[in-house]
Amino acid sequence: MNDPFANDTSYVTVPLDHRRLAPGESLAQAHAFLDTMRHRRSVRAFSPEPVPFALIEAAVAAAGTAPSGANQQPWTFVAVGDPEFKARIRAAAEEEEREFYTSHITPAWRAALAPLGTDPIKTHLTDAPWVVVVFAQAFGLERQDDGGEHQFKHYYVAESVGIAVGLFLASLTHAGLVALTHTPNPMGFLGTLLERPRNERVYVAIPVGYPAPDATVPAHALAKKPLDTILVRVSPDNRAGADDLTGGAAS
Ligand SMILES: Cc1cc2nc3c(=O)[nH]c(=O)nc-3n(C[C@H](O)[C@H](O)[C@H](O)COP(=O)(O)O)c2cc1C
Repeated sequence: MNDPFANDTSYVTVPLDHRRLAPGESLAQAHAFLDTMRHRRSVRAFSPEPVPFALIEAAVAAAGTAPSGANQQPWTFVAVGDPEFKARIRAAAEEEEREFYTSHITPAWRAALAPLGTDPIKTHLTDAPWVVVVFAQAFGLERQDDGGEHQFKHYYVAESVGIAVGLFLASLTHAGLVALTHTPNPMGFLGTLLERPRNERVYVAIPVGYPAPDATVPAHALAKKPLDTILVRVSPDNRAGADDLTGGAAS
């Protein structure tokens, strides 16, 4: 039988660099991370306090470690700190959102948003020191030496970018910052405003900073589904618990 990869020299391996933790340390770290993430909240009222760019850089670098389809890393993070640009983003977003809230929102959507108290006013887009706009690269685009462009397929773009954004948010939370995953509807204007290349589609806009001193959050947001409704365990021993992580000490 013909092996289609027989002459392929692109598959090269290196030893895995894995840091194995002691079982107790594993559980402690897992719980510490859980505690940090339980304090993550979507925040809509920001303090204008500056945030060092190094923190944005570190969070984007963390996002950049994400797994992605065929390791194509189909994402671009545009960090906007320029007040004039943020004002333009806010003006355009509010225009779109006013239209959405008055003409396009369905009754079911309005009902789903009601407990969150969202409206067309988007102060977070100007108050937060950074607005990080994430773009998904729908396909690859490489500039050629002859000035032309080589276009190629990207695989699992939405899944890959979603995972990267999750790591970005986790890193911000870990660093004591707050953010909002904001999806103005529609939001194509962001690609035009930020002059992104033709293969990029806006995925989400994320204001990042510190909360305003009087910031509140919707109580609705704190209600997360219980673990036993989101986790299904299929294994010979269905007594879910910490025993697996502590080295099977439970009797
Ligand atoms: C894909 C996505 C889009 C969202 N879009 C908006 C948005 O446009 N405006 C907004 O105020 N919140 C938006 N949110 C935030 C959600 O309302 C929020 O995550 C949810 O209410 C739970 O609150 P929490 O993030 O504090 O846990 C969005 C969240 C996600 C994941």
